[in-house]
Amino acid sequence: MSTLKLTRTLPEDATDADLRADVLHGLTTTPKTLPPKWFYDARGSELFEEITRLPEYYPTRAEREILHSRAPEIAAATQARTLVELGSGSSEKTRLLLDALTGLHTYVPVDVSESALYGAGHALLAERPGLHVHALIADFTRGLTLPDAPGPRLVAFLGGTIGNLLPEERAVFLRSVRALMSPGDALLLGADLVKEESVLVRAYDDAAGVTAAFNKNVLAVLARELDADVDPDDFDHVALWDPGNEWIEMRLRARSALTVKIRELDLAVPFEEGEELRTEVSAKFRREGLGAELEAAGLELTGWWTDAAERFSLSLATVA
Ligand code: SAH
Ligand code: AVI
Repeated sequence: MSTLKLTRTLPEDATDADLRADVLHGLTTTPKTLPPKWFYDARGSELFEEITRLPEYYPTRAEREILHSRAPEIAAATQARTLVELGSGSSEKTRLLLDALTGLHTYVPVDVSESALYGAGHALLAERPGLHVHALIADFTRGLTLPDAPGPRLVAFLGGTIGNLLPEERAVFLRSVRALMSPGDALLLGADLVKEESVLVRAYDDAAGVTAAFNKNVLAVLARELDADVDPDDFDHVALWDPGNEWIEMRLRARSALTVKIRELDLAVPFEEGEELRTEVSAKFRREGLGAELEAAGLELTGWWTDAAERFSLSLATVA
C-alpha cells in the first residue's frame, strides 16, 4: 500500500519571519533585491508550470529529453532505494526516474510550495501503489534533516534551480548536500548551459507574457503577506543577460517614481523612475565550471549528459 506523509520542518511563523527579514534587507539596500523563493505561492507555482509549457522555455523539455533516454542508466548506476528531490514542484519529470528506479522504497519531495507538494503527493499516491511519499515543506538552503529511509539515496535537484542561487550560496548549498550524503549515495543535478543570448533572453521574456506575470507575482505575495500597497502595473518585467556572470537576471522596473508602503513592516520603499528590483538570477553553466564547483564541495562528477542540442545538462556526482 502506498503512503503519503507531509512534514513541515519550518513553523509557519518562521516562513513569515524569513519573508520579513528578506524584504527588510532587500528593499532597503541598493540595488534592491529579493530572493526568488518568494515567487512560489500557489499562483506562482501554477505560473511556473505554465512557463514550462511555453515554446520559448526550452529547459524543461531539454531536461525531460535527457531523463527519457538516461533514466535507466542513472537507475543502474545509483540503485537508489530513496529518492530525495529538492525543489520538486509538480514532480512531473521525476516520474521518469520513478519508473526507472525499480527498487525504490521512498520518495522525499522537498519544496517551499505547500500547494505544489500536495498536488504532486496526491497524484503520485494514486499512480504508484507501494511507493512511500514523505513530502517535506522546507527551505533547501536552510540545512535539511531527512526522514529515516533506506539507502542508497539519490538526491535530485532538477530544472536548473541550482542557477537561482548566487555563487556563494551555491557553494554553501552544495556542501550542505554533500553533508547529507553517505558513500554510495549520489546527486543528480540539472543545470542549464551557456548559449546564445537571444535564445536565453526569449526564454525569460516570452511573447505571451507568462514570465512577466510570474515575475510580478512576487508583488502579489508582498501585498498579501505584508499588506503592501503595490500595483503590479506600476512595474515592467525585465530579463537581461549578464555576460560577465553568465546569468540571466530578472528585474522589476518602476515605470515612474513611486513609493511602496509595506504596512506590516511599517516601511515606505521609494523607487525612482526606472529603478529596478532584482528578483532572480538564473545562472547558466559550463561542464568545467560545474565540475569544479562539485569538487570544491567534496563531490566527484561521475556522469554528464546533455540533450541532443546541448542546451541543458544532467550531472551525476558521488561522494569524493
Ligand atoms: N524541479 C521542478 C520545479 C522547478 S521550479 C522542475 O524541474 O520543473 C523551482 C522549485 O523550487 C519550485 O517548486 C519552488 O517552490 C522550489 N523552491 C525555490 N526555492 C526553494 C527553497 N529555497 N527551498 C525549497 N524549495 C524551493
Ligand atoms: C526554477 N528555475 C530554474 C527557473 C529558471 O529558469 O531559472 C525559474 C524561472 N524564472 C523565470 N522563468 C523560469
